[in-house]
Amino acid sequence: MKPINVGLLGLGTVGGGTLTVLRRNAEEITRRAGREIRVLRAAVRNLDKAKALAGDLPLTTRPFDVVDDPDIDIVVELIGGLEPARELVMRAIANGKHVVTANKHLVAKHGNEIFAAAQARGVMVAFEAAVAGGIPIIKALREGLTANRIEWLAGIINGTSNFILTEMRDKGAAFADVLKQAQDLGYAEADPTFDIEGIDAAHKLTILSAIAFGIPMQFDRAYTEGISKLTREDVQYAEELGYRIKLLGIARRAENGIELRVHPTLIPERRLIANVDGAMNAVLVLGDAVGPTLYYGAGAGAEPTASAVVADLVDVTRLHTADPHHRVPHLAFQPDQLADTPILPMDEVRTAYYLRLSAFDRPGVLADITRILADSNISIDAMVQKEPAEGEEQVNIILLTHVTVEKNVNAAIAKIEALDTVAGKVMRIRLEELAAK
Ligand code: HSE
Repeated sequence: MKPINVGLLGLGTVGGGTLTVLRRNAEEITRRAGREIRVLRAAVRNLDKAKALAGDLPLTTRPFDVVDDPDIDIVVELIGGLEPARELVMRAIANGKHVVTANKHLVAKHGNEIFAAAQARGVMVAFEAAVAGGIPIIKALREGLTANRIEWLAGIINGTSNFILTEMRDKGAAFADVLKQAQDLGYAEADPTFDIEGIDAAHKLTILSAIAFGIPMQFDRAYTEGISKLTREDVQYAEELGYRIKLLGIARRAENGIELRVHPTLIPERRLIANVDGAMNAVLVLGDAVGPTLYYGAGAGAEPTASAVVADLVDVTRLHTADPHHRVPHLAFQPDQLADTPILPMDEVRTAYYLRLSAFDRPGVLADITRILADSNISIDAMVQKEPAEGEEQVNIILLTHVTVEKNVNAAIAKIEALDTVAGKVMRIRLEELAAK
């Protein structure tokens, strides 16, 4: 059978990795795909920089020449960002080409429009590499778990922030120093606020939630809170109470809607996912039939991400000649079967909490605080009062609550902060047991 022709947009870390893997494993990939997957040309920003890697592969600096090339069957978009990536992808689709992309930002923001266009044109848009790098989590959710009603998923889906949290815990390092290290190691996004403020994780969570629940992409409704306000103290106190702090992306089916949230989260240290360290990623999924399943691996890097890109290329190659109606739907559910289940506002989310506050060590202070919590219908699970530092009059008090509604906690925090005996702000970190029920 004649080869299927691929055009690459971008030959940076992931593009380079893709070319390397396709070349190194060419024979096995052909045996699996049923025909050769041949890269015909690549569009790059800087010809001189790309030459060594490209070898005899023709290069251009004009990406639209690649998407308009009639010989190309599949366009692989690896340039990232929203524009011109969106325009290139839409043009490739209009030209009747399949698309493989690693662009989480693009899929989370414009996925609905892109999939509708692809559906109408009878082409595929594959995006395994957009979430958790080399972990085949899209494949698992969309196909392997297709018998299940997904109850919730929780993922460590940003390697940079996980690396930072791991270093803060292991080495007691300060946030800013570790961020610099992560940037030097090349894990961070072009704009590192995407990593540390939870935006990159929210892009990936948006994509996972759409596939898990059969809902449209709703990035703008995701609650996003990063790790930049976490202190070494909180990491250490959590540890003393038997928890680890991770930046989790959580999508949960609740009674009257779907929770979609990214935030630092205390999780019991005995959970496997609590022990996912460094730049690694993991996604824990609870399905009603299978129970909990955990997917672990490298969430970034040249060849791990290329592993997902090439898997998509093989999938698209195999299905290229199939009737479009018999392909796996982009979002796991048939396009006319997407649900309009609302995403819940954060006030309505139900979870447990870690609260840290600084109070004067005087009679009645604790009574005031616990009274406020009781009045807000918040039940306390554990409480610790730390020794005051030398010469200090204030003490740190840490409270763990049982599961409650976020708006009740916010109301209680406002009242606690207004007490004369409490200094400064209350630190609030959400806590999830991640139990399989
Ligand atoms: N900046 C991302 C991360 C890269 O740290 O996980 C992979 O999407």
